Amino acid sequence: MNADAIVTELDAMRAQGWSAASLKELAVRLLHESNPRFHWTGIYELFPDGTLRLGPFLGAPTDHVSIPVGRGVCGTAVAEARNINVPDVRELDNYLACSLETRSELVVLIRTGNRIYAQIDIDSHQPAAFDPGTEESVQKVADALAPLYEAENPGQRA
Ligand code: SME
Repeated sequence: MNADAIVTELDAMRAQGWSAASLKELAVRLLHESNPRFHWTGIYELFPDGTLRLGPFLGAPTDHVSIPVGRGVCGTAVAEARNINVPDVRELDNYLACSLETRSELVVLIRTGNRIYAQIDIDSHQPAAFDPGTEESVQKVADALAPLYEAENPGQRA
């Protein structure tokens, strides 16, 4: 399923009254199944205390269920308010290993303008698994999730 189809599916399920939690799980599953290079796909949610907490995910369980802003690839993406595409995680100093098999990682922020709510984090066993088109696709799904966060946390996540 491509990103446009995933967004259409999310919109349809939202119109049917699915909860935000169910829609986030669905987004993770459809994204995870959309690309054979995605070996771990999950959402980290930003809390007001400055930590990212693990939400729905598919792939190997991780020790990193809570990550301070500024730490690792995930925390750096929030600290610098930008998506991060790491072609080879072995070249990073501030990498938090989820799986020893991971070679590349993509973090795409779920945001509205300057306001960051969460992020989609994807790990691949393949080096340089994420081309610009892949990042664009993940961004479309992230953008489709942003209104859910906006609606459930007015004024809470900054
Ligand atoms: N590698 C991430 C930690 C999360 S796991 O990949 C799921 C990081 O460096 O922030």
